[in-house]
Amino acid sequence: MIKMRLDEVATAVDGRLAGADPAAEVTGAVEYDSRKVGPGGLFVAFPGEKVDGHDYAATAVAAGATAVLGTREVEGVPMVLVDDPLAALAALARTVLPKLPDLCVIGLTGSSGKTTTKDLVAQLAARLGPTVAPPGSLNNELGFPYTVLKADEQTRYLVLEMGARGMGHISYLAGIARPRVGVVLNVGTSHIGEFGSVDNIATAKGELAEAVPVDGVAILNADDERVRKMAVRTRGRVVLVGEAPDADVRADDVTVDAHGRASYTLRVARGSVPVRLRVPGRHQVGNSLAAAAVARELGMPLRELGEALGELELRSVRRMDVFERSDGVTVIDDSYNANPASMAAALRALATIGTGRRTVAVLGYMAELGGFERAGHEEVGRLAAELGVDRLFVVSAEAGPIHEGATAQPGWEGRSVVLGDQEAAIDALRADLRPGDVVLVKGSRYRTWDVVDSLREEGSAA
Ligand SMILES: Nc1ncnc2c1ncn2[C@@H]1O[C@H](COP(=O)(O)OP(=O)(O)OP(=O)(O)O)[C@@H](O)[C@H]1O
Ligand SMILES: [Mg+2]
Repeated sequence: MIKMRLDEVATAVDGRLAGADPAAEVTGAVEYDSRKVGPGGLFVAFPGEKVDGHDYAATAVAAGATAVLGTREVEGVPMVLVDDPLAALAALARTVLPKLPDLCVIGLTGSSGKTTTKDLVAQLAARLGPTVAPPGSLNNELGFPYTVLKADEQTRYLVLEMGARGMGHISYLAGIARPRVGVVLNVGTSHIGEFGSVDNIATAKGELAEAVPVDGVAILNADDERVRKMAVRTRGRVVLVGEAPDADVRADDVTVDAHGRASYTLRVARGSVPVRLRVPGRHQVGNSLAAAAVARELGMPLRELGEALGELELRSVRRMDVFERSDGVTVIDDSYNANPASMAAALRALATIGTGRRTVAVLGYMAELGGFERAGHEEVGRLAAELGVDRLFVVSAEAGPIHEGATAQPGWEGRSVVLGDQEAAIDALRADLRPGDVVLVKGSRYRTWDVVDSLREEGSAA
């Protein structure tokens, strides 16, 4: 964070100092995990249900924190007292940004691929100037202002992921940091349980287009009708990206190699350049186009952009992480999260990488689909069968409709079983896997990860 006196912090968050020197300065980072606090930092203590941050206030000060922002006094600890630390974090972020006039804020939203694309944008932006974009998925009312507060006078580009679990969430985040460049990737069915319909999700994601100012730019996916239509909701300039003929930043002649990596011709108004992606998955075409459009806005020349796109890597874990085991089994770890669209993208990658090999999909339950739950799981099973996946291990009875969707497909000769839990899936894989197989593991977080970790361990022991 930029340097601030404690009295300035108190004013910014509408708080009150207790046991603190008003002239003392915060010179380090704002953290809510006491283990991350360093000299000059500000520790934010949340009164949690299980763990109360205030219990760590003294530890934070011992680690060098200038003060602790919290809801009650702690003996011997310089405090900034507020009613609501989350609101205070937002208020602090709101105060800091106007002090950084040279900073360009880039915001991304969409149902799938926000973190992936945020990481791609960050790698391109970093070639042009100091960039802040932490790894992982800090996209909510906590992670978003926390990320904003990582910016300082040196930062040129601030790349922010914007998540929504309901209406108004993106507007709220944009009220903390208004993106001059706003990217909407896609509208799918993740969190549909809370939203009620895909149209409602489009309304919510479009809040980003609405937040883009007159001198800003909305980068919209031309291949997603609901996203394309957001063009009428922005005051900013619109840049369409995609494979559609009218896209301003377009991919032509897309091909995918045996490792699932796409190549294409990138076309913009002033020319074209060949692109060869290293990141696996056909869906990275769209993600990389969005990142390319951002880079163009930031001024990257086309030739450099072509090269830079080819050097992009995946930074956040468990998203399309493809690794080889010593026994010749290829594992696609896409276990970070799952919704029908990202399941489809991952199954397509499995089919491509597994061409001429035996393919195994270990698929778990997709959370937060509400009334769309059964249909969403069935759709995934149907696609697995259509793509000719050889073995389908459906993990947990809740995910059972994936099995039903697959086995209802006439002519599918693959085999599908429903396994009780991750342990059962690990056992089944141990018995079934053969050298040369390609295994995809995907589900909604939690213990789907255990399956990948076991595959990794057993592969290194092999
Ligand atoms: N454009 C895309 N279309 C479909 N699936 C995608 C796309 N980009 C990434 N994915 C897949 O979606 C899953 C989630 O990716 P990622 O974490 O980047 O998305 P996110 O939008 O940040 O998710 P979250 O809402 O959990 O923050 C991963 O399995 C990833 O491989
Ligand atoms: Mg994310």
